[in-house]
Amino acid sequence: MTGPGLRVVLDADAIDATVERLAGELSGRFDDGVVLAAVLRGSVPFLADLSRAMTIHSLIDFLAITKYERGTGRVRLLKDLDIDITGRDVVVVEDIVDTGLTSAFLRGELTRRSPRSLTFCTFVDRVPARVVPVELDHVGVEIPDEFVIGYGLDYRGRYRNVKVLAAVDTDVLSSDPDAYVDELYLS
Ligand code: IMP
Ligand code: MG
Repeated sequence: MTGPGLRVVLDADAIDATVERLAGELSGRFDDGVVLAAVLRGSVPFLADLSRAMTIHSLIDFLAITKYERGTGRVRLLKDLDIDITGRDVVVVEDIVDTGLTSAFLRGELTRRSPRSLTFCTFVDRVPARVVPVELDHVGVEIPDEFVIGYGLDYRGRYRNVKVLAAVDTDVLSSDPDAYVDELYLS
């Protein structure tokens, strides 16, 4: 699985080990159960694995954020949580933190609701892309400034169900969004 412009960042075993570590960190931190607030849609595979690897009880809820133009700073809540998080320990579960705009927006939005605690957990952290500073409590893997797909992460909706996390060439994808389909699904 290493064709032109494609590099596996984490294979399925490395993903499992990373999720186990994060689940251990989170389970050791709360004793009373938590609300896992997952950001749609990229965090779904991570949420499913993380919640089952955790050894404390959790409630699962979802929110969705509008897409923004890279760098404009505009973020809006598209779908809100259903659970009232007042007084609860809340863990925001994200696929990737890039500019940080989503996380910064969510911190403001959710803090207003007076949770007992607010914890940020992301599977991927692209540190060099940060536009606004954000404090992340639990990070799966840090990557350099490269675009990644798989394990929930998409390119125009594709590749979310790929079992590995792979760095890809966006020039290749912009001329053919399906360029990596054979390599990522057939091997
Ligand atoms: P940000 O931190 O507010 O810039 O938002 C990150 C969001 O942008 C993620 O939840 C993804 O939906 C998307 N995103 C950022 N970088 C990538 C990537 O490398 N692959 C796929 N989606 C990405
Ligand atoms: Mg996306």
